[in-house]
Amino acid sequence: MPLIAIASPKGGVGKTTLTAYLAAYLAAQGWRVVALDLDPQNALRLHLGLSIREEAGVMANLAEDTDWHAAMVETPFGVQLLPFGNADPVDALDSFAAIMEDPELIARPVRQIAARADTIMLLDTPPGPNPATAALLPLIDLTVLVLLADGGSAAMIPRIAENSFMGRSATARRAAERAVVVLNQFDADAPLADAVLAMAERSLGDRLLGTIRRDDALAEALADKRLLLEDDTPAADDLHAIAEAVIHQARLRKPGRRRGFSALSEWGG
Ligand SMILES: Nc1ncnc2c1ncn2[C@@H]1O[C@H](COP(=O)(O)OP(=O)(O)O)[C@@H](O)[C@H]1O
Ligand SMILES: [Mg+2]
Repeated sequence: MPLIAIASPKGGVGKTTLTAYLAAYLAAQGWRVVALDLDPQNALRLHLGLSIREEAGVMANLAEDTDWHAAMVETPFGVQLLPFGNADPVDALDSFAAIMEDPELIARPVRQIAARADTIMLLDTPPGPNPATAALLPLIDLTVLVLLADGGSAAMIPRIAENSFMGRSATARRAAERAVVVLNQFDADAPLADAVLAMAERSLGDRLLGTIRRDDALAEALADKRLLLEDDTPAADDLHAIAEAVIHQARLRKPGRRRGFSALSEWGG
């Protein structure tokens, strides 16, 4: 039921890395996880262990009759993946234009897939404002914003704290209220790092889920088609803590002995 978006104003900050880890972590705990890649980079499939030769997906050449269930791929990490699909830039723009024209083109299938009570749906979103995230905004229960501990991110923090960073509409404001923040690629020795962390702690309180240290093990794991789930490295420890914080923030009830599953999509008062 819950729909969790991983988002950022910038590219290259670690959205896809975090989406893949969270998806695999939740799947390993027994949830049914569907991950949807909304970014034309189409990179989530690589993080989840698929071959670069697998080019199919739901977003490239998006059309009314796209069969989302048929397009779902079972990944080696137990996550059901809806890849973006291989799209040249013109195809990707066409898909986004079609969504601007008719947001239901993606809102309808996403609502259907997320409706299953045993399902957690994760969205890997394109950086910055984009039609795909905008179309799904009313459906999103929690946004995990990935920032860096740098000047650009520091500039965003006040607008995140006052819930205005997604726009002025009521929908944008409601979605912004349901956003939490992760500082990725954290390096305590970097200039500004401590100052940005202190500012984020002060402004965001418990909406700051924590930091993920800069760690080359992440890139190495990706090259080996692994996800650091079992590893004992700084980034693995941090990712684990962030995943547990997301479970807490989204009020996900751990699947266990009980048959079925109950997740409260209402959270955060
Ligand atoms: N904590 C980290 N430490 C070191 N490298 C990281 C970390 N997080 C992400 N990266 C690397 O940064 C690059 C961009 O990450 P990615 O998840 O693709 O970002 P995005 O999806 O936001 O564009 C990748 O090469 C990834 O391995
Ligand atoms: Mg990405």
